[in-house]
Amino acid sequence: MRPTIGPISHGRGRRHTLPASEFRCLGPEDAISVFEIERQAFISVSGECPLYLDKVRYFLTACPELSLGWFEGGCLVAFIIGTLWDQKKLAEAALTHHKPHGSTVHIHVLAVHRSARQQGKGSMLMWRYLQYLPCLPYVRQAVLMCQDFLVPFYLKSGFKVQGPSEITMGPLSFIEMMYHVKGHAYMRRNSVF
Ligand SMILES: CC(C)(COP(=O)(O)OP(=O)(O)OC[C@H]1O[C@@H](n2cnc3c(N)ncnc32)[C@H](O)[C@@H]1OP(=O)(O)O)[C@@H](O)C(=O)NCCC(=O)NCCS
Repeated sequence: MRPTIGPISHGRGRRHTLPASEFRCLGPEDAISVFEIERQAFISVSGECPLYLDKVRYFLTACPELSLGWFEGGCLVAFIIGTLWDQKKLAEAALTHHKPHGSTVHIHVLAVHRSARQQGKGSMLMWRYLQYLPCLPYVRQAVLMCQDFLVPFYLKSGFKVQGPSEITMGPLSFIEMMYHVKGHAYMRRNSVF
């Protein structure tokens, strides 16, 4: 069973109703639901997409623990997909590669189903994800690239602007942002304070 984060059913027997809200890491079996949200969020808007279906499947197989999905009534309403990268700054190869020995989480995409936007879900999911990252002791920072109109959104989540990204997609340019991951779970456990 995949790691589940947040409110879940604790009954030992069969679950008769789907939980109202559930947070859990994603797996390759969730790829189609992920891509459906991406399709309406990106492809229908700009014709481009951060991750196509084959990459979604690949990343959710390679590092499911770096993803997080929000399900309502069993349906995916928002998600984050991350991989590991082995430098502080993103380069073109970070778009397609997962570096298992890296200490930087590259957040490829955060997307909320069109019908569930502007309700605080994007901010809440990112908050939960950032709370969860210290449980992964190899993670030191999270980085992402976004278009400039989303910089205020990520600033509110605690990211800091690093400057222009060296990655471009056609006419699109991006700002790179970083979140410093503090207080690893194992450090807190071993802390005398
Ligand atoms: C960006 C996104 C994840 C935000 O999720 P959300 O649940 O709608 O956002 P929240 O309700 O938590 O927060 C709303 C805030 O987000 C920001 N925001 C959301 N979409 C925005 C947009 N298109 N332009 C500018 N700001 C935006 C605003 O700061 C807004 O604050 P306001 O309510 O004061 O206007 C969501 O709109 C989405 O999925 N968009 C399409 C995919 C995308 O662009 N993802 C990010 C790049 S990978």
